[in-house]
Amino acid sequence: MKFNIDNGFLEYEIVGSGIPVLFIHGYPLSRKIWSPQLNNLSNMATTISVDLRGHGDSFPFDGPYTMDLLADDCIKLLDYLQVFSPVVVCGLSMGGYVIMAMYNKYPEYVKAMILTSTRPGPDSPEVKITRDISISSVHQHGSNLIADNMLPNLFSSVTLTEKLQLVNQIHSMMLNTSVQGLVGALQGIRDRPDSVPLLSQIRCPVLIIHGTDDKIVPINEAEMMEQQISNSHLVKIKNAGHLPNLEQPDIYNQTVRDFLRNQD
Ligand code: MLT
Repeated sequence: MKFNIDNGFLEYEIVGSGIPVLFIHGYPLSRKIWSPQLNNLSNMATTISVDLRGHGDSFPFDGPYTMDLLADDCIKLLDYLQVFSPVVVCGLSMGGYVIMAMYNKYPEYVKAMILTSTRPGPDSPEVKITRDISISSVHQHGSNLIADNMLPNLFSSVTLTEKLQLVNQIHSMMLNTSVQGLVGALQGIRDRPDSVPLLSQIRCPVLIIHGTDDKIVPINEAEMMEQQISNSHLVKIKNAGHLPNLEQPDIYNQTVRDFLRNQD
């Protein structure tokens, strides 16, 4: 379904009924990464998944996509859908950066958080340079190099050898991301603020989920968040890399179900 915004639109999907849960994907992916969760949770949750601007089937807006802008988009979608009670927000990687921006600006919208494969800190100066190199690569080659280079880093070695269909699906998803989406997100990620000071101010329940084999966001980031967020709990998933919800969906779903049951 389409939600018109800023002379373009966002694509979103609502499935199921129960406690509202907003799913926010990572870069450069789409809402489709959440299909195992939508299928599994629809008997206990109203699952809302959105393609962030420039990603999936949403309009390829020009960037930069600051984390505040992406959080504003999510809030506008919730208002449009008339979800007036606070929601559980579940984000992966960049989706987690968006959740932190959302909590900073609109804490009243957030009932609880599920932070998957994410980190609270900003990019280091060295990483900012690699973002600029990626932006030039996108201008020259489109999504090709980004998709090829990211692919092996997204998964555990078990997934890379045993779940080729999943690996290929994610490769196509990245290849299909628009140039505007890739550049807009890279600029926004590069310039995102430091959310570490926010951690001690988070008052809602927080579930942190991280793959033990994540090569993009090391697991010590998740351990640090668990230490600094008072009402938080970290679940580590073995044989999962950066996409534990897809690599180990049964464990991920059960973890989320147990958490949601306590939020009603
Ligand atoms: C993501 O998965 O959203 C990105 O890898 C985040 C990042 O590069 O910082």
